[in-house]
Amino acid sequence: MCGIVAYIGEKSAVPLLMEGLKKLEYRGYDSAGICIACNHRLEVIKRSGRIAELEKVARLNEISARIGIAHTRWATHGAPNEINAHPHLSCHGEIAVVHNGIIENFRSLKDMLTKEGHQFTSDTDTEVLAHLIEKFYQGDLATAVIKALHNVEGTFGIAVLHKDEERLVIARRGSPIIIGLGQRETIVASDAVSIIPHTKKVIYLNDNEIAIIGMHDYRLQNLNGESIANDIQEIRWNIEQIEKRGFKHFMLKEIFEQPEAIRNTMRGRITNGQIKLSLHTDISRIKRIIIAACGTSWHSALIGKNLIEKYTGIPTEVDYASEFRYRQSIINRDVLLIVISQSGETADTLAALRKAKTAGTQTFGLVNVVGSTIAREVESGVYLHAGPEIGVASTKAFLCQVVALLLLALYIKQQNGEQIDPTLLEKIEAIPEQIQQVTERSDELREIAAAYLANRNFLYLGRGINYPVALEGALKLKEISYIHAEGYPAAEMKHGPIALIDANMPVVFIATKGAVFDKVISNMQEVKARGGIILTITDHDNPYLRELSNHLMIVPETLEDLSPLINVIPLQLLAYHIADLKGLNVDKPRNLAKSVTVE
Ligand code: M6R
Repeated sequence: MCGIVAYIGEKSAVPLLMEGLKKLEYRGYDSAGICIACNHRLEVIKRSGRIAELEKVARLNEISARIGIAHTRWATHGAPNEINAHPHLSCHGEIAVVHNGIIENFRSLKDMLTKEGHQFTSDTDTEVLAHLIEKFYQGDLATAVIKALHNVEGTFGIAVLHKDEERLVIARRGSPIIIGLGQRETIVASDAVSIIPHTKKVIYLNDNEIAIIGMHDYRLQNLNGESIANDIQEIRWNIEQIEKRGFKHFMLKEIFEQPEAIRNTMRGRITNGQIKLSLHTDISRIKRIIIAACGTSWHSALIGKNLIEKYTGIPTEVDYASEFRYRQSIINRDVLLIVISQSGETADTLAALRKAKTAGTQTFGLVNVVGSTIAREVESGVYLHAGPEIGVASTKAFLCQVVALLLLALYIKQQNGEQIDPTLLEKIEAIPEQIQQVTERSDELREIAAAYLANRNFLYLGRGINYPVALEGALKLKEISYIHAEGYPAAEMKHGPIALIDANMPVVFIATKGAVFDKVISNMQEVKARGGIILTITDHDNPYLRELSNHLMIVPETLEDLSPLINVIPLQLLAYHIADLKGLNVDKPRNLAKSVTVE
């Protein structure tokens, strides 16, 4: 949610900030703005809409400055227009702020400041920060920022400039901020993707910490004003991984990267018939597992539940992190809380983690972004190693999450003294190649997609371990194509959704072989009998299925437990091609953001 980038150094700030902003646009694209400090003056340029609108401003090419802050917005408080775009200035235009997060007590602060004579121009919570810092400013920006933040409730990642100070002040509570240390320059951003082109040496700011960054030095403090020393870390991702490399969209590239992504998740973790994970979890203590996550990560959690219960016998619940955090859930020392998050920054998932830690629960994370807040706060965990996922619709992270959950289930089984079936391991190792066989048939799915551009609704049905795949297929379609889609357990259809079936209702069935294959066929007949359109994903080519289906997509055969890893691929491609053929912005669908750092 919102992207921040800030620069101080010997180069011209504006091109660097614009380049950094473009890489962060997936975090929000309601408006964009930039502020540079030069000759004791702050100059702000902002536009509503995407960064491309900001780029059109000719004045940007004339500015020469070495310090600046910039922002791409995902609107929370105030409409997505130019006035509400960041950066926001204080009353006298001396202080500029960009902010990611929510100032929860902004109304009371605004009332107080208004009474003191401050005049506000926007509807945002962020503008309050600029005025509050100005109120406390007495010649030292860092001190004023600390004082202001002591009065603030909520979350923030901020970058602040003062017209007379040749430095950036950065602070964080709840919203990510990374400081990239380059050669005679520092680049600050919400995400490493904007830093990697310049340096791989970074410092992660933790909650309630502040950085004061000058032209040639920096210092870190906590919000009590005490000096701290965070380690300098090295980012492992490289620039090629965050480029599109000839694909029309990041989403398509990421779908095609899936074989390699899951190879990376497995690398070094399956050796000589053994699962190797480095866990600091006391497995003997676990009587119950709760998995908390959001969106696509919640879907992988549902698959994980099937796998964990089957292979370990440990009762496993799956909760939306946003529900878990506020519910009076029964959590104690016998529970293992697993949190799953691609970004490692999702506010609800982080809150779920913190709640469990407070209750003395063991915690375990499956996270993709190295060094992210959740990754740093879990007691133990595995990185997915999916590489950067830029498309707002999650694809490769989902697959890697399922693989990591499978490895975790098998690891616990192994630690309990049970053997792992070598055939299962062989089948797991064959999955990347089988996924590639499906991605290579992307054009077939494009042809099928072309027939459904005018449909307004879709139903996705699956059973057992493929029910979450139906949910994921429906989520992919709705988020990027704006077609209403629902995922359902196939047998539940007759308890309500069957009323929707008619000749305008495409129903996607996941009908690969397994315990409930015949039952799914019966559900297909029920749809056929009511004139519904059937799109079938199956590993079983037979004349009867062909007769039932309007479109049949045959996928490679594997074990039922592994089938979600293959079955989801045609659903990702179907959603992608429908959205692309409709001419929509696949990588940046409306109203969404990649990393949801507000609740
Ligand atoms: O980064 P996270 O895995 O915690 O994100 C969770 C959801 O916000 C995310 O999966 C979202 O649902 C995606 N847009 C789905 O494609």
